[in-house]
Amino acid sequence: MHSGSARPRRWFGAGLLFLAWATANVVTAQTGSPRRTVWDGVYTEAQAARGGMAFGPSCGNCHVLAAEGKAPLAGEPFWKSFAQKSVGDLLEFVTKNMPNGAPASLSESTYQDLVALILKSNGFPAGNTELARNTIAGVQIVPKDGNAELPANALARVIGCLARRGADWVVTNATPPERSERAGPGGEDAARPLGSRTVTLKFVLTRLDALAGSRVVVSGLLIGAGGVDGINVTAVSRVAEKCP
Ligand code: HEC
Repeated sequence: MHSGSARPRRWFGAGLLFLAWATANVVTAQTGSPRRTVWDGVYTEAQAARGGMAFGPSCGNCHVLAAEGKAPLAGEPFWKSFAQKSVGDLLEFVTKNMPNGAPASLSESTYQDLVALILKSNGFPAGNTELARNTIAGVQIVPKDGNAELPANALARVIGCLARRGADWVVTNATPPERSERAGPGGEDAARPLGSRTVTLKFVLTRLDALAGSRVVVSGLLIGAGGVDGINVTAVSRVAEKCP
């Protein structure tokens, strides 16, 4: 499936990446704490029940809480949009954009209840603490085994060693792709453990010869799920001379 080539160009000029890089330090500063995920019980049953009351009148005209139907909010469609994002991102999206046509028209607690309901509908367990802005900022949306391949066309980053393979540039010893809407190159990239993948760099617009053999972080759009067919490159930067 090579449908990735038409769409990515639009992202190029969007300045998203630069915005992302500007916030990189904030993100890196948080990575020292142990990672919490949606499997840690980040909402309560009572809260999801309240969300159920609000959903019908505010959201039910347009959405179903299932994997199939109109604008589904569960299952595969949910994973496509939110895998590897945080519950904070989900709350922010819903608050700023929904109900479509009347964003930010509900109370903060109602938005939180609705996000609790969406989590419940996706099979994540309830816990003892209510979901609130300050409890869920860094809570990751990942499958139970922790390995979520990002969908095709996700804006992502990988870290690894830049090498030439035939006519292509590739990154060897690459980490699994991570969402990069927020995290750009950060201080940890020079030292963190690398992975075992090889990712092909596609549509490279700049000369990379000077970076060959060094440790780089590559940002771009994944071609195929998990970048199986490569990454449509928007930026390559060196984070260390030596690699691996
Ligand atoms: C008038 C119709 C309408 C209403 C009402 C509405 N939405 Fe939406 N919603 C949409 C549309 C259209 C999209 C797709 C927007 C896009 O992809 O840019 C969307 C997208 C979403 C998404 C992202 C889904 C995804 O997979 O990317 C979430 C989550 C969501 N809505 C939650 C809600 C919640 C919660 C409410 C109730 C407060 C709500 N919506 C009310 C029309 C609506």
